[in-house]
Amino acid sequence: MRGRVTGTGSAVPEKVLSNHDLELLVDTTDEWIVSRTGIRERRIASSEEFTSTFATRAALKALEMAGVTPEELDLIIVATVTPDYPFPSTACLLQNNIKAHNAAAFDISAACSGFIYALTTVDKYIRTGAVKKALVVGAEVLSRIVDWSDRNSCLLFGDGAGAVVVEAVDGDNGIRDAMLKSDGSYWELLYQPGPGNRNPSSQTLLDNRLHYIHMQGNEVFKLAVRSMEEAATGVLAAGGYICADIDLFVPHQANKRIIDAIGKRLGLSDEKVFVNLDRYGNTSAASIPIALDEANRTGRIQPGNLVLLDSFGGGLTWAAMSMIW
Ligand code: ACO
Repeated sequence: MRGRVTGTGSAVPEKVLSNHDLELLVDTTDEWIVSRTGIRERRIASSEEFTSTFATRAALKALEMAGVTPEELDLIIVATVTPDYPFPSTACLLQNNIKAHNAAAFDISAACSGFIYALTTVDKYIRTGAVKKALVVGAEVLSRIVDWSDRNSCLLFGDGAGAVVVEAVDGDNGIRDAMLKSDGSYWELLYQPGPGNRNPSSQTLLDNRLHYIHMQGNEVFKLAVRSMEEAATGVLAAGGYICADIDLFVPHQANKRIIDAIGKRLGLSDEKVFVNLDRYGNTSAASIPIALDEANRTGRIQPGNLVLLDSFGGGLTWAAMSMIW
């Protein structure tokens, strides 16, 4: 048995924040942002919308496509670094919203690699026979932890969610190989200092802006290219594939220059690389499942295609997965 994606869904906020809107907030230009990142606009949640809001909308679409009812689900995993609450998990909130009474539900925190971490976990459960039908969601409301006065980071991030239904199947189609990697020695390159044990909620936390994303963009950039290439080539080799076998490459949508650099290293033509970060920016754990849903619904992925997912994120974490659609 292996896991196979049988339904995809995604949901993003209505509100669009363009680069021109950002020009009014920080000292930047549309031209600088587009040339350095490829991002043109991102979606921002309203004060009435939460990570679980988008997770629920995306999940219902994925379930509908798969023809699976919430009661049939054995397991729900939500990948997020912006949960509604520290606890309970956003997965439990989602379970309650969709009335998936028979599922175990928990969150995974691996920043932008969270979706591949979660999908790999589900696939392993399926291979043991313990799980038959599962829901994997990447969902974020990053706009609430972005420092809107920091021009080095605020331009990058956006909100949204993507979901997949995964079912146990026999045969060749489905998830093939996955590689999960972490190196905690780089934890300070990208993190949210508080609130947490080290920096509990306090006026000092707010005064020192410790509740926002802190990022060393340049260093992250270099490590991203290297680690994503390592994960992609490792997963391909594990399955006996070569780069030319890839039908669609779905990378984490962080920066167009990072995506271009990896596409070039893998020798992929532009049409084999899925890009939607111009419209959403970096939605962290939601980025790959949103891209996967768009690729699926627009016919960019066909049954039998070799699809390669590839990501990196805070931790540092990085991961890749191959699947026959
Ligand atoms: N507008 C105009 N100028 C800017 C802006 C801006 N928004 N931001 C920085 N600059 C300036 C800098 O001050 C600097 O000026 P200086 O040379 O006078 O000091 C100059 O532009 C170059 O700055 P760099 O930081 O070297 O710019 P770089 O080309 O590296 O681009 C960026 C910065 C876009 C952040 C890039 O490094 C990047 O994308 N890194 C990866 C970050 C990332 O992907 N993070 C998410 C990881 S995934 C996760 O887990 C959430």
